[in-house]
Amino acid sequence: METIKFTSEEADQVYIAGGFAHPDLTHQIVEAIGADLGGVKYKTHPNGEIYSRYDDSVRGKHVFVVQSHIRSDEGSVNDAIMQQCLLIDAARSSSAKEITAVAPYLAYGRQDRKTKGREPIGTRVILDQLATAGADRIVTVDMHSPQAQGIFRKPFDHLTAQNLLRGAMRQEIVEFGQEPCVVVAPDAGAAKLAQQHSKELNIGMFLMTKMRDPSDNQKISRDDKFPDADGRVCMIFDDMVDTGGTLVSAAEALSNSGAKAIFVAATHGVLSDPAIERLKDAPINKILITNTFNTAVAEHELGNKLRVVNAAPMIGRALLEIVRCGSISALFNDQNNR
Ligand code: R5P
Repeated sequence: METIKFTSEEADQVYIAGGFAHPDLTHQIVEAIGADLGGVKYKTHPNGEIYSRYDDSVRGKHVFVVQSHIRSDEGSVNDAIMQQCLLIDAARSSSAKEITAVAPYLAYGRQDRKTKGREPIGTRVILDQLATAGADRIVTVDMHSPQAQGIFRKPFDHLTAQNLLRGAMRQEIVEFGQEPCVVVAPDAGAAKLAQQHSKELNIGMFLMTKMRDPSDNQKISRDDKFPDADGRVCMIFDDMVDTGGTLVSAAEALSNSGAKAIFVAATHGVLSDPAIERLKDAPINKILITNTFNTAVAEHELGNKLRVVNAAPMIGRALLEIVRCGSISALFNDQNNR
């Protein structure tokens, strides 16, 4: 994807501001498109409530409020969501022309339906909250359930980092030359994604069984052997790696089935405990993630076993297209709407 910069006229029309959750990513986004970072002040009151204010006027501007819904030193996932809503509200009541909520990682995406009685649908709660605060548009990357975007009754731009991950994966497997390769879906939910990668890479794919223990969803069981992995370089693609249970159990089963090498890629490196420990010990040649989450600890702990793919230029480019009324799907060769 070509990097294009804002003209100075366009840069004057926008106010791109970030919350406290992942300032490095916001910096990299604005830098990639030659925009200025819009200042925001914030503090947390003694009772835990958050206060935020724009440094400069947003009147008549297209305001982009960037916040990955992630835990940071400044607050919890829920604090990150709340600060984004507060900033959206502040822009609304300060006469912004248009407000886009940019959530590179949109939290509660896995609570996309009721799996038992009396459960909430968390994705709906978040999207409703952003709408109520005043967002005119949402931009996010690789939602767990892209169909949930229908909950938000305004423009929704769903970006994908899977093309970037596939490009990085191609580079990683070069050392295996002509060895047979296969794309592996670690569970049924990842099958469509695997199909797309298998088509683009022009190689086969197969789907692994995955059962979670209903009394302890950390416990995953799989079939003992996957004959299609034998002697092959296996590539797993997923939307996220959280505790690492899915990818590590898949890698172990593939290794036990005779895989020649195992590469895993996921857009969101949530990496909740004990993911890093699990990944350290897993029979995985390389783990590829993007920087929608802060990756500093993982980079330190996993060293060369980890490759971080920079998603900021892609997000920046999407913001630029939004301002120019360009096509987002054209940017992704129509592969962003799985
Ligand atoms: C599951 O459907 C998702 O796509 C991920 O595979 C899963 O949420 C990752 O979680 P964990 O790393 O904790 O297994």
